Amino acid sequence: MENLGRSVPLEDTPERAAARKQDHIEICARQDVESDGMRASSFYLAPEALPEFSAADVDTNRTFLGRKFSLPFLITGMTGGVSEGQRINEVLALAAERWNIPMGLGSQKIMIKNDSYRRMFDVRKVAPSVFLIGNIGAVSFNYGISEDDIVRMVDVLRLDACAVHLNALQEAIQPEGERDFSGLLHHIEKLVRRLPVPVVVKEVGSGMTAETCRRIFETGVAAVDVGGSGGTSWSAIEGRRGDALTARLGELFRNWGISTEQSVAECSEVLRAFGDVPARQLIATGGIRDGARAALMLALGADMCGVGLPFFRAVVRPPQGVSAEESLDEEIKFFARSLETAMFCAGARRIPELGRRLRRRAFA
Ligand SMILES: Cc1cc2nc3c(=O)[nH]c(=O)nc-3n(C[C@H](O)[C@H](O)[C@H](O)COP(=O)(O)O)c2cc1C
Repeated sequence: MENLGRSVPLEDTPERAAARKQDHIEICARQDVESDGMRASSFYLAPEALPEFSAADVDTNRTFLGRKFSLPFLITGMTGGVSEGQRINEVLALAAERWNIPMGLGSQKIMIKNDSYRRMFDVRKVAPSVFLIGNIGAVSFNYGISEDDIVRMVDVLRLDACAVHLNALQEAIQPEGERDFSGLLHHIEKLVRRLPVPVVVKEVGSGMTAETCRRIFETGVAAVDVGGSGGTSWSAIEGRRGDALTARLGELFRNWGISTEQSVAECSEVLRAFGDVPARQLIATGGIRDGARAALMLALGADMCGVGLPFFRAVVRPPQGVSAEESLDEEIKFFARSLETAMFCAGARRIPELGRRLRRRAFA
């Protein structure tokens, strides 16, 4: 046993990265890729039998990273780097612009390594005013990507913010995963100093403890996305892309981590301890499947709720006879209406009022 069974990843060329992105699109479109961390909730919103205002007066506006949005939903970073990814990004960007919500791009490492992939992320030509958040894996700093590369990437695509993702579990299971996570906090700190736009640090499905959240905010990042378990599971996805051992590991770690709810509860305490200056914000992503669940996350202290798989599937698998654009519109409308309904029926006219309606369930 030369290396105690540790697989040695292949070098991640742009061609390999593009093939992986296509695998992700196909697996996420059709297969069961979710974990179960969000099924039960420890909290609920107290109903208000006498809201004493009109449902028409519910105000879902949210200020995030300095811009005012109409809804507290963020189309979380998903794809790019393959032609199907480009089409998906364009549909998402048009909807983000129409609904006045922010949108993230998928990992842009591929375009940093080879500029010909840039057009697959360049959604400004279809949605010039969309609030666009770039994306790069923190681990890429240990595999040939520099802070200068990211400064250039933000500049050429005129990005409004840049997300740095943390995906230890995904890289651990992924056949070609990059697994040297040493020294990443230092790189994040340097990036925050270099970039002219806010930096968001995001987990992608294992959740965030209070202690890690505090260390990340100390570097000066503007927002943390807790990326909790309960939604898309990268362990389940990568498990489908390798040999029998990879498949076993992928299923074993499918539900690994702490839920989005627990992460938001822990991390909002950290934000309270920091106080308000400079502004630091929290994003709840992972298993948000409707506006009622989003209302609960906002009551717990999230500033925004990230939505991935539901919007992705609305685009790639629209109902028969419905266009991708209409299907996505319907899905966003469902999120908006279910949030408004939860707010109205909990007696919260504005989002900051939701916190007062939060109750912890008493389990027998
Ligand atoms: C098809 C697909 C591709 C994704 N690619 C990326 C990525 O490149 N970078 C990233 O930070 N997150 C990526 N994500 C993760 C999402 O941003 C999000 O954290 C995750 O899907 C959890 O949210 P959900 O449960 O609503 O899907 C991807 C998700 C999907 C569904």
